[in-house]
Amino acid sequence: METIALILAAGQGTRMKSQLPKVLHPLMGVPLVHYSVETAVKVTGNQPYVVIGHGAEQVVQALGEEVHFITQEQQLGTGHAVLQAEQALMKFEGQVLVISADMPLLRVETLAALVQTQAVNPGPVSLLTVSGVESRGFGRIIRNEQGSITAIVEEAQATLRELAVQEYNVGAYCINARWLWAALKKVKKSPKGEYYLTDIVQIAVEEGLPVQVSAVAEPVEALGINTRQHLAEAEAAMRTRINTHWMLNGVTMIDPSRVYIEPGVKMEQDCTIWPDTYIKGKTEIGTGCEIGPNTIIESCKIGKDCRILASVLESAVLEDQVEMGPFCRLRKGAHLASHVHMGNFGEVKDSYLGEGTKMGHFSYIGNAQIAGDVNIGAGTITCNYDGVSKHTTIIEEGVFIGSDTMLVAPVKIGKGATTGAGAVVNRDVAPGEVVVGVPARPIKKVKS
Ligand code: UD1
Ligand code: CA
Repeated sequence: METIALILAAGQGTRMKSQLPKVLHPLMGVPLVHYSVETAVKVTGNQPYVVIGHGAEQVVQALGEEVHFITQEQQLGTGHAVLQAEQALMKFEGQVLVISADMPLLRVETLAALVQTQAVNPGPVSLLTVSGVESRGFGRIIRNEQGSITAIVEEAQATLRELAVQEYNVGAYCINARWLWAALKKVKKSPKGEYYLTDIVQIAVEEGLPVQVSAVAEPVEALGINTRQHLAEAEAAMRTRINTHWMLNGVTMIDPSRVYIEPGVKMEQDCTIWPDTYIKGKTEIGTGCEIGPNTIIESCKIGKDCRILASVLESAVLEDQVEMGPFCRLRKGAHLASHVHMGNFGEVKDSYLGEGTKMGHFSYIGNAQIAGDVNIGAGTITCNYDGVSKHTTIIEEGVFIGSDTMLVAPVKIGKGATTGAGAVVNRDVAPGEVVVGVPARPIKKVKS
């Protein structure tokens, strides 16, 4: 049977104490709501509907075209939130998977099992439960003497006996669409003044229809986020989940508790990640790389067998067997071809370094096109900015740049040329020429 997901994301999230809507707080660098959207798409194969209210504009902006939106003007409870989807889903005859945007750890397999439970349930609703965890304000699953479910009671309304129950409502439901809308209209206002979605369980039971449950596989999946403390707990759980995934796929982690890998990252087999390493954004890393310790990589494409030690890389491309660090910084647009060696304290921005080029110590390379087999001496600087605009430096193959050379752009150094230590090069240098001094001028090559 076809399933459509409805994601509840209209609540204020008061306990986050934040200007930012709760569902947009980042978890491993990604706004919370994205996790439920992605999971929902995988489970149902359909574009989900998201109920928005508090901070609606920002949520719409964050999700864009990915989903359908339903507005809940006033946040009158989870039952009221679901009822807002009636118009949009009136003609839909399959099952509706209702989840909350504040539960990012629910796995595809778990929700698929819930959908499957409902697919074979003769009754109109199945729900996800968790046991053996701290209550954290969960609704209690109430069963009769035969063990059948009769109701869900919210913690605030529970009697002492009900409070003692340790089977909890996770807040994920799979419901027959043809039954749902009429049932929601029967829900009465709670003493708190809200319409509780959980009341549909009792409504089904009163109609003599069975309610089924499916339990989460790992209790951690039921971790909902209401406070920033919960957010940190979820972050730790997600980090463990991601790192475990990579270790099972052939990545070595010396100390996984000190490795942070965002969900958009891809790595190939036989990489080794040392502690205190952060790999973020849409980074891709080829096979056999050794990364860290103390490294931050964001949105980079890295080839195979690279070695990156204690460095910071952002929006850069590294081909194969590049060696760098410690203390290198690659900024946007840096592209290092295969076998480039970059030693300590180098910065590269918007530049290409050709195959086998070496840049051992203390250099800044910006807006440069550097061919292969170039030696960039210690302390070399491309003076690329004149206070108004950026200018390009071109260095051809096999050039030897002496230590402490200032390359005043725009400037071109011809193939096989040499600059002397301390040269300030403000004019183009012909191929094979040797220039020295301030400003640099050609001298005869000393025959050796
Ligand atoms: C809910 C359940 C509780 C369950 C718990 C699991 C109800 C009445 N209770 O309680 O049984 O154990 O989840 O975490 O459903 N929302 C709206 N519009 C509203 C109110 C809420 O969109 O008017 C959204 C919130 O943004 C949130 C979700 O619904 O994503 C759940 O709401 P929340 O207030 O957090 O419910 P809980 O008190 O956690
Ligand atoms: Ca909640």
